[in-house]
Amino acid sequence: MKGGNISRFLGRHYFFTLIAILLTTIFLWSWEKNPLFINSLSEENEFILPSQESLNPRKHISEDYSQSQVADVTRNVKTEQESSNLREKTSEDYSHSQVADETRNVKTEQESLNPMDHTSEDYSHSQVADETRNVKTEQESLNPREHTSKDYSHKLVSDGISNVKTEQASDTALMNITATLSLDRKDNDKILNSSFEKKVCNYAKGRWVADSRRPLYSGFGCKQWLSEMWACRLTQRTDFSYEGYRWQPENCEMPEFEGSALLKRMQDKTIAFVGDSLGRQQFQSFMCMVTGGEEHPEVEDVGSKYGLAKPHGSIRPDGWAYWFPHTNTTILYYWSASLCGIEPINISDPSTNFAMHLDRPAAFLEHFLHEFDVLVLNTGHHWNRGKMNVNRWVMYLNGKPLQDWKLQQIGNAKNLTVYNVVKWVDSQMTRHPRLKAFFRTISPRHFFNGEWNTGGSCDNTTPLAGGSEVTQDESSDPVVEGAVKGTKVKILDITAISQLRDESHMSRYSIRASSGVHDCLHWCLPGVPDTWNELLCAQI
Ligand SMILES: *[C@@H]1O[C@H](CO)[C@@H](O)[C@H](O)[C@H]1NC(C)=O
Ligand SMILES: *[C@@H]1O[C@H](CO)[C@@H](O)[C@H](O)[C@H]1NC(C)=O
Ligand SMILES: *[C@@H]1O[C@H](CO)[C@@H](O)[C@H](O)[C@H]1NC(C)=O
Ligand SMILES: *[C@@H]1O[C@H](CO)[C@@H](O)[C@H](O)[C@H]1NC(C)=O
Ligand SMILES: *[C@@H]1O[C@H](CO)[C@@H](O)[C@H](O)[C@H]1NC(C)=O
Repeated sequence: MKGGNISRFLGRHYFFTLIAILLTTIFLWSWEKNPLFINSLSEENEFILPSQESLNPRKHISEDYSQSQVADVTRNVKTEQESSNLREKTSEDYSHSQVADETRNVKTEQESLNPMDHTSEDYSHSQVADETRNVKTEQESLNPREHTSKDYSHKLVSDGISNVKTEQASDTALMNITATLSLDRKDNDKILNSSFEKKVCNYAKGRWVADSRRPLYSGFGCKQWLSEMWACRLTQRTDFSYEGYRWQPENCEMPEFEGSALLKRMQDKTIAFVGDSLGRQQFQSFMCMVTGGEEHPEVEDVGSKYGLAKPHGSIRPDGWAYWFPHTNTTILYYWSASLCGIEPINISDPSTNFAMHLDRPAAFLEHFLHEFDVLVLNTGHHWNRGKMNVNRWVMYLNGKPLQDWKLQQIGNAKNLTVYNVVKWVDSQMTRHPRLKAFFRTISPRHFFNGEWNTGGSCDNTTPLAGGSEVTQDESSDPVVEGAVKGTKVKILDITAISQLRDESHMSRYSIRASSGVHDCLHWCLPGVPDTWNELLCAQI
């Protein structure tokens, strides 16, 4: 009986121990699983972990990226061999139309009497002149250039030093974050929130809406910056309904544009547009937008600071730079149609060809990037045989004439260059952390019923006849989209948006309308490039 009692007692004892172990296990298990149990410590862990992860995956991504690039190239070679017929045809068509473009430009330039006023935004002859002149300039004015590059290296050194400091500071800050995590939770929330917002917000997706507050400046005004050749109000054109539209992104906040507020935001900053004539349109539009098209006599021409003074005997300078004294803001444009580094092959030969280094950015970018707070790049319409031949550009890679026949195909050379320029800018951004760099996607052309020289035109005057919405997620410019992927360079995606606006090109209207040649490439100003700038301003 006694023994039975003991064993019963022990049995009960084991039973309760078992229950206790079971309960503890359940408790510990739910401690881990149930969010209600998560205390501030594990909350901290949540914040520590993502930040550690976000460091590593980056590295990982860029490694993957270069690997996948190699893989892509290999795959590309294959694809191209497989589909060479198709490609050949496409690129033939492409260069054909582009050559045509070129010829038109040459014609227009011959027709225009006063080179200062010439109406076609063309750089064929003038570019040759410019390049020759550049050779001269470089010989004649060694001092200013030397000065610039001395400044440049000096600044590089000091940038380097400040970088080391910044890195040390950010290391300490990082440790501080770990130590005082609970204090920083709000900030982390904000960071997470804003990165979340950026992810879901695609400025290129949305619709055009009529808005009585457009245009942002008068096409009769802005004489200080708006070229007559793009001011459609000064032409025979009578319909201006294209001026009254605004772009409404689907998921992004679009603050109403206000020029003086933007200037204040850009206090002590420099905004640079670098690219072809469409980039110049965007620059002129930007100048008109921030000034509201009003006269601003206090704004100073500071082109000479950037080597942009018009050299004797040339049609125009390589760019323009203006300084707003009240806010100490500089806005500039530099003409670089290909974004490549271009240099004479034989500097003492006046009829020299020019090396077009597909793997080097334009020297202007190398010299001045450190001064920019906002950079907007573009290229595209000059990538054709015609322009290359007239400009006497010879493609170079690794400092040698390009041999690879596949890369010699214009589309591939352009793609390579866009990738290289983006890669270079991205590599500079750790050194210039304040820089916000954008690559603007290609501006669409709208020649209907032929090309420019076969009766092609863009006669539609009804806005948005083909629809007002962009619903696709991806860009219509896969080259730029692909190039900026995984970099700190942002896409300024205007291709699909502008594709809907065939009615707002220069069309048949120009100050000196020439025999049936229509410009369905450049845009009337005010007009579509204003919207590109609104999208830009929303992102800086
Ligand atoms: C670290 O945090 C403390 C308190 O939050 C602050 O006083 C200190 O300046 C911080 N140090 C750095 C390097 O950020
Ligand atoms: C982050 O977003 C969430 C949900 O949108 C919101 O409830 C929270 O207040 C935001 N946090 C901060 C710090 O803005
Ligand atoms: C103007 O801005 C530049 C940076 O763009 C800065 O270096 C300079 O100190 C500023 N000048 C004044 C007077 O604030
Ligand atoms: C460069 O051009 C000059 C002038 O035409 C010529 O005399 C010289 O031989 C050229 N040099 C080379 C390396 O081709
Ligand atoms: C452009 O070049 C990149 C990198 O070399 C490659 O991944 C991509 O497929 C190319 N795109 C085109 C359209 O050739």
